[in-house]
Amino acid sequence: MRSHHPPSLFLLISLPLFFSFFTLQPTTSSATLIRDTCRQCSKTDPNLDYEFCTNSLESSPYSRRYSSDLHQLGLLSFNLTRHNVTSTRNFIKHLLKNNKEKKLDPYVKACLNDCLELYTEALRSIKDAEKDYKAKEYDDANIALSSVNDASTTCEDGFNEKEKVVSPLTKRNRYTFQLTVISLSIMNMLT
Ligand SMILES: *[C@@H]1O[C@H](CO)[C@@H](O)[C@H](O)[C@H]1NC(C)=O
Ligand SMILES: *[C@@H]1O[C@H](CO)[C@@H](O)[C@H](O)[C@H]1NC(C)=O
Repeated sequence: MRSHHPPSLFLLISLPLFFSFFTLQPTTSSATLIRDTCRQCSKTDPNLDYEFCTNSLESSPYSRRYSSDLHQLGLLSFNLTRHNVTSTRNFIKHLLKNNKEKKLDPYVKACLNDCLELYTEALRSIKDAEKDYKAKEYDDANIALSSVNDASTTCEDGFNEKEKVVSPLTKRNRYTFQLTVISLSIMNMLT
């Protein structure tokens, strides 16, 4: 997912996309770009589910407007990630706040505190990444976005380090992970 792929991999990723652009008719719907992009993304990264990708990108009310070209579609994916990271951070805060009534397991509480820190940092990073992306500074955007991706796995791993502990954030960490993979893949296609 890093930006410096050997040329062969670069071609592998960009050529099919190039041809799909080549054959686009003027009337081609935004859905085509989303499907083509998601097919490429899930081919490049087996961690990414094709259905998740299309569902996410098509979920925005701005899908049509933003999927006129790949750079725009990338912006949409950044927006989805930012909203998701914000929502997860708020959810963690909510769980920690409820601790007063419903006592959390001390280990879970410690993990949640770590995750809150990770997601606070991730929110900063996704905003930076978005700025870099808009300026077409893809290398910087890649680094910032990779740290958001790492935050989701580091958070989840914390819970998994102890037996019989269930992460209350599995689904949300997975969302963040997959959404960042979409953005990273799109940037790969643009460079
Ligand atoms: C986070 O992303 C997932 C997958 O696209 C979506 O189902 C969920 O509604 C999103 N949550 C927010 C708050 O954006
Ligand atoms: C950004 O994502 C949020 C949450 O998914 C959505 O409600 C909003 O309409 C999106 N904005 C744009 C410009 O895509």
